[in-house]
Amino acid sequence: MSRFITFEGIDGSGKSTQIKLLADYLSSKGAKVFLTKEPGEGKLGEAIRTMILARRDIEVKPYEELFLFCADRSHHVREVIQPKLEDGYTVISDRYYDSTLAYQGFGRGIPHDFVFDNAKASSLGVEPDITLFLSIPVEQALLRLKNRGRNNRMDEEPLEFHSRVDRGYRELMKRDIERIKEIEATGSPEEIHTEIKRFFE
Ligand code: TYD
Repeated sequence: MSRFITFEGIDGSGKSTQIKLLADYLSSKGAKVFLTKEPGEGKLGEAIRTMILARRDIEVKPYEELFLFCADRSHHVREVIQPKLEDGYTVISDRYYDSTLAYQGFGRGIPHDFVFDNAKASSLGVEPDITLFLSIPVEQALLRLKNRGRNNRMDEEPLEFHSRVDRGYRELMKRDIERIKEIEATGSPEEIHTEIKRFFE
């Protein structure tokens, strides 16, 4: 049975650890699991990722950022997500269109309706079956990022930016309570995993 699961959260919310744990759990239950992420899976994504996140010499304005992330997503859906779902995989993506709504809409302040239309269009109609939002205080997430020492353009944004993104996720959750599940992500990895597993029993 194919299934599309997405993980969302501010930078430093601990998504990658939880994605690995969930992938192992679902595999142990017999699912064929495929892990992917945005931005940057596939050759186009790799180029876009470099432009948006890594190259300090290119100035990328909010609308340019929005269109690059959306281009990345369409390519990702067509080249990776859709074929894997058709092949019967459980696909888990580290970020999907909610990231665009939260970061470019709420974080950068681009009018929300415009971001929504573009982000939706970029998904080519492929909707997540469930989205797990890892909920953690912004200060705690930023501290984790600092300790991890891995910074990209977004990681370096001030606290207020990440707070706006966080508020954005909470707003999105209210609008789509059927799909987006809030996961309390301040505990140990095992505790968080236990909470996530409930949705897959
Ligand atoms: P990455 O290093 O993959 O961070 P993380 O491990 O926290 O996901 O960088 C992805 C960054 O890009 C992250 O800060 C969120 C941002 N982003 C957007 O702003 N809009 C988007 O549509 C997507 C997919 C990501």
